[in-house]
Amino acid sequence: VGEEIYYFDSTDSTNTRAKRLAEDGSVHGTLVVADEQTGGRGRRGRAWESQKGVSIYMSLVLKPEIDPNNASMLTLITAMAVAGGIEKTTGLECKIKWPNDIVVHGKKVCGILTEMSTQMDYINYIVIGIGINVQNESFPEEIREVATSLRIESGKKQKRAAIIEAVWEEFEKYYDIYLKTEDMQGLVGEYDQKLANMNKQVRVLDPKDPYEGTARGITPKGELIVDTWEARKLVSSGEVSVRGL
Ligand code: BTN
Repeated sequence: VGEEIYYFDSTDSTNTRAKRLAEDGSVHGTLVVADEQTGGRGRRGRAWESQKGVSIYMSLVLKPEIDPNNASMLTLITAMAVAGGIEKTTGLECKIKWPNDIVVHGKKVCGILTEMSTQMDYINYIVIGIGINVQNESFPEEIREVATSLRIESGKKQKRAAIIEAVWEEFEKYYDIYLKTEDMQGLVGEYDQKLANMNKQVRVLDPKDPYEGTARGITPKGELIVDTWEARKLVSSGEVSVRGL
């Protein structure tokens, strides 16, 4: 990570920048970091609040030679890396809400937006964007119940540079394991330990057929295992969202 680093005082979205760089031939491991985003993007087409100097906005370009069907796990190991990096630098305990929201004391401090470009069964590139709320002292009314920052939860200012470094150090560790092992069981076990939804009731918002069940961890492909009263179901992250009850 960070063979090439692009730093911007201000940009539309580090994900959009990283995608352009990836298309223009930037190497695997290229990192884009910005102090401010004017068009920060969240999942499901939502906007991502990105004030100057407050939080971490960064995106990583990956060009891995893997089967696109195994790519979901990359987002999940990024969530593990962010959780680990934050824990190491701030001492706050992090949990992961499947698939990739990082929560501290039950509220979200980080969101991850992964975008992939494929051709047949070949990956052109993957961009993984990470937004970590660091210095925010308050949040807009609409998200106050669900969002928080490292500053609010730890009661003190946190250094963005130290967190960024720790996150990528953790990422490299997990990425090596991911590439080397055929068997994902070790990573699955570690993810499950951090899973905020573990053994909790969840509602799977399948537009055709929503249902409720108990979350039991993830599969090696990164799907969430949900036991309903009648069957065990596997939920893929792209398809539907899951809410805690
Ligand atoms: C979510 O909705 O939870 C995902 C939020 C992802 C935000 C980050 S900030 C850096 C990168 N650039 C973007 O435009 N989005 C991601």
